[in-house]
Amino acid sequence: MSRKNLIAGNWKMNNTVAEAVVLAQEISNRIERDWLELVDVAVCPPYVDLKPVKSVFEFDRVDIAVGAQNVYWEPKGAFTGEISIAMIDNIGCTYCIVGHSERRNLFGETNEDVNLKARALVEADITPIICVGESLSVRDAGTYLDFVTAQVRAAYAGMDEADAAKTVIAYEPVWAIGTGRTATPEQAEEVCAAIRATASELFGAEVAEGLRVLYGGSMNEGNAALLLGEADIDGGLIGGAALKADSFIQIVKEAC
Ligand code: G3P
Repeated sequence: MSRKNLIAGNWKMNNTVAEAVVLAQEISNRIERDWLELVDVAVCPPYVDLKPVKSVFEFDRVDIAVGAQNVYWEPKGAFTGEISIAMIDNIGCTYCIVGHSERRNLFGETNEDVNLKARALVEADITPIICVGESLSVRDAGTYLDFVTAQVRAAYAGMDEADAAKTVIAYEPVWAIGTGRTATPEQAEEVCAAIRATASELFGAEVAEGLRVLYGGSMNEGNAALLLGEADIDGGLIGGAALKADSFIQIVKEAC
């Protein structure tokens, strides 16, 4: 089955509104509209930039989606500082990153939190980009496949085939994020294939074959083609390189 690649830029805690609008406009100006028949593209700015960035793409009538970087699973209530799914839906988010390693490691997000968020997003027809990935110590110990597939199982707890078909998984080895030490295509493919095999075990071959598994962790315009050439890698979740229009556009082009 051929799966349409997805290239999503995770802007993290970068870009004031003015900077975000300038970057969004640069991307909109530079992207070839026919590429968007061949690859899905999204940017995930900070909450405060979502509407202004979405407005740039709407005004230019360019099919680039926006996504949030996080969300809370309760519909509303006394959850100071949190953002609800209805709020990001109202802005027009198509995607939402959940379980990024920075949220797991810096803000204590658990597998259970990730599962609650992913299920609530699927319920609201917003595509969760579920992040999984091992630390360097787990990689060095050789237990990374067990570790990552356990994260996948936990993220999918309580979901059925129809739910799982509405998700995206992003494999982001923690030791590759922001380090310039990208996983080799072989390393990335090994884990992405294991993720797909786990999805097949849980939900059957059809869901597994249709599941988009992204790679993230120092993907850039220089290594994107090799990584995207792997059978079980269906796109990228891009950090640093997404903050530079030239780099991001080149990665999108490689994904066509
Ligand atoms: O979510 C994507 C991000 O974690 C990857 O960051 O800078 O290594 O591309 P970076």
